[in-house]
Amino acid sequence: MTQLQINEVATRDGFQIEATFVPTADKIRLIDALSATGLARIEATSFVSPKAIPNLRDAAEVVAGIQRRPGVGITVLVPNLKGAERALACGVDEINLVMSASDSHGLANLRMTPEQSLAQFTELLAAVRAHPQGAEVFVNASLSTSFGCPFEGEVPQARVLDLVGRLLQLGVEGVTLCDTTGMANPAQVTRLCEAAQARFPGTPFTLHFHNTRGMGLANALAAWQAGITRFDASLGGLGGCPYAPGATGNVCTEDLVHMFEQMGVPTGVDLDALLAASAMLPEMVGHDTPGQVVKAGKADRRYPMPAQ
Ligand code: COA
Ligand code: ZN
Repeated sequence: MTQLQINEVATRDGFQIEATFVPTADKIRLIDALSATGLARIEATSFVSPKAIPNLRDAAEVVAGIQRRPGVGITVLVPNLKGAERALACGVDEINLVMSASDSHGLANLRMTPEQSLAQFTELLAAVRAHPQGAEVFVNASLSTSFGCPFEGEVPQARVLDLVGRLLQLGVEGVTLCDTTGMANPAQVTRLCEAAQARFPGTPFTLHFHNTRGMGLANALAAWQAGITRFDASLGGLGGCPYAPGATGNVCTEDLVHMFEQMGVPTGVDLDALLAASAMLPEMVGHDTPGQVVKAGKADRRYPMPAQ
């Protein structure tokens, strides 16, 4: 059975929306703990405008400060050429371009419609490939609001597939379909995953779910049943886009790993080590997290029988 590839996004999608700035040293400590758990990739931070996302203004220090382990790809979210240049200067393994599938969310989040995002990606990709290490950098693109937009509602599947095709034509190597505000349902996930893989065979598709309406794990399962093996997930279930009203946390990494491991699907992740990392979060962010397995224990947890 194909091992899952999990991209951990807590220090990016999670920390970007926290009420307080998580100190740089804590971010580094958490990423170092996470990179020892067997995760395939870690989305360490984002190289966006510090005015747009003040919590991640220390992106360069974070990437420079973490330990790099063979086999753990370090990826960062990038909206524009300036972000790509900052990311390349830090020697990341992957650049995760971000754009929206809907005009309204694109304008709210990035001050760019999807067309405007695509137009500036041509120059961006040329700059990446011209960089001395640029040939080795994997370029992925995340398509926000692929399953619905909090301003516009439905985003037609044909529009999402058209944008995927245009990203691939530009030279993007992988695409993440993002359910930015937890609007997707499992039937819709099955349809889009099947259609995307049929139309663009061999493309590494990643699925990014938020658990805003409690459908995160059900959606991940539907995606896996449709043949998807790459997932974004966030430790503790942190996460959310500050420019999407009502956004809440991503599907929780340790709950996702627990579910798939219980099903016999290999994830490559040491769940105990992941749970230990998750236990670091409440102190770092100053509140409880939505993760469930970290509180309940694994399904094989056994309690002593009460005295008869
Ligand atoms: N990194 C750092 N600074 C950047 C930057 C980047 N990638 N892109 C732009 N900036 C700076 C510019 O240098 C400029 O700074 P100045 O005011 O000191 O001169 C300022 O930001 C405005 O630049 P401009 O190109 O006009 O950007 P904008 O105001 O139109 O904003 C984005 C566009 C994309 C930069 C901004 O909306 C953004 O960073 N959005 C990201 C939101 C996000 O991460 N959401 C959650 C993840 S889905
Ligand atoms: Zn997200």
